Amino acid sequence: MTSVRAFAPGRVNLIGDHTDYTGGLVLPMVIERRTVIDGTATNDGVVRIASADEPEPAVFAADIDDPETIEPRWARYVAGMVREMRLAGVPVSGFDASVSTDLPIGAGLSSSAALEIATGRFIRSIAAEPTLDDVEMALAAQRAEHRASGVPCGIMDQLCIAVGQPGRATLIDCHDLSVRHVALPDSIDIDVKFVAQRTLVGSEYSDRVAACRTIEQHIGPLRLASMDDVESLPDPRLKRRARHVISENQRVRDFVAALESNDVDELGRLMTDSHRSLASDYETSNPTMDQAVAELLRRPGVLGARMTGGGFGGCVVAIRRR
Ligand code: GLA
Repeated sequence: MTSVRAFAPGRVNLIGDHTDYTGGLVLPMVIERRTVIDGTATNDGVVRIASADEPEPAVFAADIDDPETIEPRWARYVAGMVREMRLAGVPVSGFDASVSTDLPIGAGLSSSAALEIATGRFIRSIAAEPTLDDVEMALAAQRAEHRASGVPCGIMDQLCIAVGQPGRATLIDCHDLSVRHVALPDSIDIDVKFVAQRTLVGSEYSDRVAACRTIEQHIGPLRLASMDDVESLPDPRLKRRARHVISENQRVRDFVAALESNDVDELGRLMTDSHRSLASDYETSNPTMDQAVAELLRRPGVLGARMTGGGFGGCVVAIRRR
């Protein structure tokens, strides 16, 4: 049997957090760390997937319907992807593979989305045609994530990982899923700093998604809303949540404009404003992350810093003059 290797990188979000699940704008980029799957196709209707840390493989039927029951838990993302690929018309007859990664797990760099997309690419390489394009694969991975973890995540992580290009930012309009690759100025470096382990499972992430649904029942789609609409919301907490999303979408637009005009000071200001908005209006930061951002901002050459991704822990990202 020919052996197949598939891989997928992690991602860091430069700006545009908690905007994807209301069809807003995000600007993540792929990073160098990645997840690799090596293996061969089989015909016995069974998937065996081992990891570098746990050589005893997880074993499940290739026509699995309940990926959320698989142990160990990381294998649920693989099983979820096997199921979603099958439902999207790419049946799997079985495979025997192992997964390794240099991405930190639960650090907010999308290790689970990287595992889903690596699995999707692996299946794409062993499958007979027809198969899925990158956007369809990202959507399948998002459904796999919902199923495997129960977290109602948006499309940012899976789509960035599926289509991102090294060294360029990925501007995604999460309403129509259009993508634009944006070059970064040579004069800046991106730094990512790990702060604390976290999980979005059972976290307040789902509460934020629910709050946005409530807001949209009052004022319509958040991606089209203006600050004037915020005033008509019935309670102060919903007003703050809406203010974050509306202002964050605008910051993504302004950030892309600043990238295109090489205005690196403006990039820094927008990042730090984004952190403030996430901390005070959206309340997805915490004192440890606020402190990490404050420390980064005191370093020479740092233009701006913010928490990145879902929050409640994870990583902070900064841009620095080279
Ligand atoms: C997590 C989710 C994404 C996105 C971010 C916040 O990473 O998986 O869909 O909502 O949080 O921007």
